[in-house]
Formats: sequence, structure tokens, C-alpha cells
Amino acid sequence: MSNKATLVHLKHYINKKNRIMIKGLFIPIICGLSVLLASCAGSQKNTGSHSTPSLKKIFEKDFVIGTALNTGQIEQKDSTADALIKSQFNAATPENIMKAEVIHPQWDKYDFTIADKLIEYGQKNNIKINGHTLIWHSQLPAYARNIKSIDSFKTFFAGHINTVAGRYSGKIFSWDVVNEALNEDGTMRKSIFLEHLGDNFVTEAFRLAAAASPHTELYYNDYNNEQPAKRAGCIVLIKKIKAAGVRIDGVGIQGHWHIGKIPLKEIEESILQYSALGLKVMFTELDIEVLPRNFSGADVNQRMKEDASLNPYVKGLPDSVQQQLANDYAALFDLFLKHKDKITRITFWGVDDGQSWLNGWPVRGRTNHPLLFDRNFQPKPAFYKVVEAKKNFDATKKGF
Ligand code: G3I
Repeated sequence: MSNKATLVHLKHYINKKNRIMIKGLFIPIICGLSVLLASCAGSQKNTGSHSTPSLKKIFEKDFVIGTALNTGQIEQKDSTADALIKSQFNAATPENIMKAEVIHPQWDKYDFTIADKLIEYGQKNNIKINGHTLIWHSQLPAYARNIKSIDSFKTFFAGHINTVAGRYSGKIFSWDVVNEALNEDGTMRKSIFLEHLGDNFVTEAFRLAAAASPHTELYYNDYNNEQPAKRAGCIVLIKKIKAAGVRIDGVGIQGHWHIGKIPLKEIEESILQYSALGLKVMFTELDIEVLPRNFSGADVNQRMKEDASLNPYVKGLPDSVQQQLANDYAALFDLFLKHKDKITRITFWGVDDGQSWLNGWPVRGRTNHPLLFDRNFQPKPAFYKVVEAKKNFDATKKGF
């Protein structure tokens, strides 16, 4: 019985039984009951059931739909979140657990516990796993950051790739082999890898990964690499890998963008230019920041000072912002669909707003709303706009 029907039924019952009921008592009872029922409805969680359309099904002929997963999600701690993941996504990237500091915490010690669980979770649920990431300057274990000798560093570099990529050979769909090796101007980022191995380290990483995991797709992944200067640097890097006769299968554009400022023109140009190199194009860490920020991108070393004015939507998004977010997502998916022959995967950087890294960066402790599902795992207006984008695309193709 619906909430409304329950109320009508109760009102009728009370009236009949207590014809002398004092009006002043009846009204508070009904009001209390309404609040109770409304709050039950509000806290109702999405179980990923029939009522919500499934993104992975809707886009199954276009591209796979991924999410970032954290430890709790891999271990299926929350059954609501788990049902949502299984109903919506057919690809997943570990948010942190395959990064060097977790998987290779000491020089001679690897910890595959959670990564193995992720692989099993993917196999059981038909979810393609994208390993993230073999070589990244960030989230390195302390011992690696402190290696002084070039020979030791080479041993760490090759050992890490051989061991981690080798373990999941034949079990994992793809790897972000190298992550964020470029500066905004397209030059190579100053990192411990560049310092010890020179700018050939990117090609070497792909060579080692291809040997250790010959049937796994291999990608270069970065943020802001849709922007002209960084994109140009990225293309130089890709051409260099190919010129060395080393395999690279795709390029990931992370897609950490800001509300009202989605660089659609540059994104389209990037899809065209990267795919012209014979590479698959992916959007690998999609989210749309709604809170104030004075710089773009996703450099985890950049931070802003805490200030209440930087956290305006603690109680939820105002309608106008919710609509802008929905329109931004719709415009993105219009573009993705237009180039679906070149794009293989769209991965959101998290399942729901509560999980997003943007609640803690670049300012700690904020309430951000960058994804398609809210903190109660409910689809937001942006979710329905994405679904609508697909319907409109199909209708246009059919000439309606
Ligand atoms: O594991 C420690 C835990 O032991 C400690 O108690 C806790 C206290 O803060 O910190 C935990 O580490 C955090 C880690 O996430 C795991 O939760 C780090 O502080 C936190 O900085 C780290 O943030 C991650 C960030 O990468 C670090 O670089 C985010 O979750 C993750 O979403 C983010 O992902 C990156 C992609 O890998 C690459 N592209 C950019 C993207 C966003 O930064």
C-alpha cells in the first residue's frame, strides 16, 4: 500500500471508531504519521532493483560503464552499495588498492590480499577490471621514494611491474601502465622516475608490462590531457612508445572537470586526435566538481585552505546547481555517444557522492556532489539526464 493510501485508510479507520475524537488530537497523530512515513521514504535505499534503469544495459552497445571501487566495496560491506554496483557497472578500477604503497609496501614484500579479492569480484560479477596503476609518482611506498642508487631503482621498477602485472596476467582486462607523467605544458613531470630513469621510463614501463601480461590492454592515463598543450605532450609520448615498437592500446582521459566548465570542444578534439593514432579512447575517472575551486585538474599535491564559504552545499544541492550538473553530464554523454566508435569505456570515479575523493580534496571535510548517485545511493537528476541522452541519441538515429 502506498504512503498516501495508508494515510487515507488510517484516517477512515480512526474516524469510524472514534466519532467523538477531538480534532486537536487527530491532527497531531496524522501529522506525526506523515513525518514518519516521509522519513522512511527518504531513507529508503536504492537496491538496484527494477525501478532504476541500468547504465551498463543502456550503453551496452556503446561502451562499458565503470566505477572506482574502494576496499569496503570490494569486500561487499554494504549490501545496498553492492547491489547498486552489480546492477549499474560492468567495469571497475581500484581506487587505491593496486597502487604501489598498498600492493608493494616493502622492498621485498607484496600484499595482494585485496587485489586478489577484486579480481575474484570482477570474475564473479562480469565486471572488467582495469588495474590502476603500475607507475605513478604519487602513493609510492617510503622505501621507493628514498632509493638513491640508479641500479636499485631500476631493480625496483622492473621488479614491481614484472611481479604485479605478471600475477594478474590473463586475469585482468587492462592496466593503466603509467599515470600522470606529464606537466600541464606537455613536458615530462619532475618525478623520481624521470630523475633516475630519464624520459624513456614510460616506454620501458610499457615494454615490461607487455612482456609480463601479453594479453592485457595497456593504457596511458592522465588528467587535463584533453587540453591542447598537455595533449600535444601526450601525443609525443604515445608516438615515442610506438616508434620503439612497444605496444600501447589506449589512452585514458581522467575527466575530473568542474561544473559549468566542461571543455567539450577540447574533449572532442582529443577523442579525434588520440583515436587517429590507432588508440582506444577512455574516460577513466569521471566526476564533476560542484564546489568552489581556484584551479583545474587533479594534482593531489595542490590544496586550498579550509573556509566555510568553500563548502556551501552541506545540506544538499540547490535545484539550479542540480540542473546545471545534469545538463553538464548530458552534454558529455551526447558527445561520448557521437564518438562511441572510438570510445571503449566511461568510468566514474566512485559509485556515490559519499565515496568521492572530492569530499576531501583540495579542501578537507567538504560535502561534494560530483557523481550520478547521491549519498543514499539514489539516482540524481543527472542520472536521468544521462539516460535521456541515450534515448535522444537513438531517436535521432532512427530519424524521429
Ligand atoms: O590509507 C590511509 C589510511 O591508513 C589513513 O588512516 C587515512 C587517513 O587520512 O589515509 C589513508 O590514505 C588515503 C587514501 O586515499 C586511501 O583512502 C589518503 O590519505 C588519501 O590521500 C588517498 O586519496 C586518494 C588519492 O588518489 C591519493 O592520491 C583518493 O582516495 C583517490 O581517489 C585518488 O585517486 C586519484 C587517481 O588514483 C589518479 N588520478 C587522480 C585521482 C584523484 O586524486
